[in-house]
Amino acid sequence: MKFFVDTADVPAIAELNELGMVDGVTTNPSLIKKSGRDILEVTKEICDLVEGPVSAEVVATEADQMIAEGRKLLEIADNIAVKVPLTWDGLKACKVLSDDGAMVNVTLCFSANQALLAAKAGATFISPFIGRLDDINLDGMQLIEDIRTVYDNYNYETEILAASIRTANHVAESARIGADVITAPPAVIKALANHPLTDKGLAAFLADIKDAGIKIL
Ligand code: E4P
Repeated sequence: MKFFVDTADVPAIAELNELGMVDGVTTNPSLIKKSGRDILEVTKEICDLVEGPVSAEVVATEADQMIAEGRKLLEIADNIAVKVPLTWDGLKACKVLSDDGAMVNVTLCFSANQALLAAKAGATFISPFIGRLDDINLDGMQLIEDIRTVYDNYNYETEILAASIRTANHVAESARIGADVITAPPAVIKALANHPLTDKGLAAFLADIKDAGIKIL
């Protein structure tokens, strides 16, 4: 499974990248706002740091403008994936940009039918938002499962990029179902290492190390 980091925080990406945990990065306008940086400048910095796809989102709502913005974003680096919203205009932009050979990430997906349209428009990635469905008492994981079934039924190559991931459980469930990629904030990725039995076991070992005066170096 590929891990993308969902942030525009360059030092946080660099820390995870050093550990080999970063297969790509996703950003969105809210994350760019949070970074306080210029979108083109911070995206370039991320692209220089990370080898995999870096999703940068268009801000226009009409297809022609989305395409123009997408082409401008694509000038930043070879590993840019243009992110477009799952609207009819977004699908038009997806088709044109993907026909040009660009990577396109179709975002804000909340149904299997939307995912089907994105695949037919040539999307490289479809981003179903798990957490935002859970927020309104719907089942985000069920959506991942449904899209996996639909894509496998017809051999679509569009990768399922499980997004809006808020918990370690979302990651484990996405992996169990067979999402191709997860994108999660750095804190969620780091939290995957946590287990109370690891902490308890280590505390016991440390006590015995101290009691017995065990030394290696
Ligand atoms: C994905 O590409 C989005 O940037 C992100 O996962 C949205 O997450 P949120 O619903 O926690 O804002």
